[in-house]
Amino acid sequence: MTGGFPEVRPRRLRTTKAMRALVSETRLHPSQLVLPLFVKEGLDAPHPIASMPGVVQHTRDSLRKAVASAAGAGLGGVMLFGIPKTRDAYGSAGIDPDGVLNVAIADTVAEVGDALVVMSDLCLDEFTDHGHCGVLGPDGSVDNDATLEQYGRMALAQAEAGAHMLGASGMMDGQIGAVRAELDRAGCTDTSLLAYAVKYASACFGPFRDAVDSALDGDRRTYQQDPGNAREALREVALDIAEGADIVMVKPALPYLDIVAAVAAEVTVPVAAYQVSGEYAMVEAAAANGWVDRERMIVETATSIRRAGAGIICTYWAEELAHLLRREF
Ligand code: PBG
Repeated sequence: MTGGFPEVRPRRLRTTKAMRALVSETRLHPSQLVLPLFVKEGLDAPHPIASMPGVVQHTRDSLRKAVASAAGAGLGGVMLFGIPKTRDAYGSAGIDPDGVLNVAIADTVAEVGDALVVMSDLCLDEFTDHGHCGVLGPDGSVDNDATLEQYGRMALAQAEAGAHMLGASGMMDGQIGAVRAELDRAGCTDTSLLAYAVKYASACFGPFRDAVDSALDGDRRTYQQDPGNAREALREVALDIAEGADIVMVKPALPYLDIVAAVAAEVTVPVAAYQVSGEYAMVEAAAANGWVDRERMIVETATSIRRAGAGIICTYWAEELAHLLRREF
């Protein structure tokens, strides 16, 4: 201080928009964004999801338009989720080549080709009548190893439908290794694996249950992680990388930014984070009440996830965010 005035003034670098852009430490690009999309069998018009304003369950037709639009916005990819007409104990509709998700994968690839990374959810919960992410054993608990066999079959169906990347989201032990082995055995060596390596048993998935008409009664605490555990996240990540994960993802995102940062510091594969349905719903609900500025929240939350270390962000705002980024910068 000279004469009571500060010599060092960080505010100098905040004086104009151009100055702030010049010194910005965190940049987001549309190609880093992945848009999750839902497609439901037997719909004749897109169906709004009440707890996720602005998000719909697509028909086959409206999905094709949505993926074309995502490609036009320059997104990195889309993540497809399917809701079948009929469900059974084994999630058979996820393996059927004519099942809703496999057909949607083929439609998407036909529509956009390589312009987007076409990703599909590799999990049984949308396809089982009990809503769990795996098949059940005689005592009603999720049978890890029987589930791995189903995942292997489902992975082949998705790869054959043309998916570029499979999002293994079921949190079964050994799922990446089992799926990788099955793909490689069938010659699908170029099909990549996005491991939901770190997935917490989170209340933030609430609206997703609406989005996929979930049949689940109960919770997923015997396979998803305890929200209090951080070191365990690094163990899960190390296992998935050892088993052949091409990308590791942390989910949810905003309440787990410490985990995103810890994972990013530890690994050499790309790190993704999933800003999930509940994170989306919270902002939309607050914005609808006029309590927060919606667009600023969209940009700020994504920037924070990027700053924490995620190079890829899955978000229901992906397309809108791509347009906001072009406008802001
Ligand atoms: C499992 C899956 C879920 C989500 C993505 N994949 C549901 C769950 O684990 O309970 C949640 C995504 C979201 O909440 O936006 N197939």
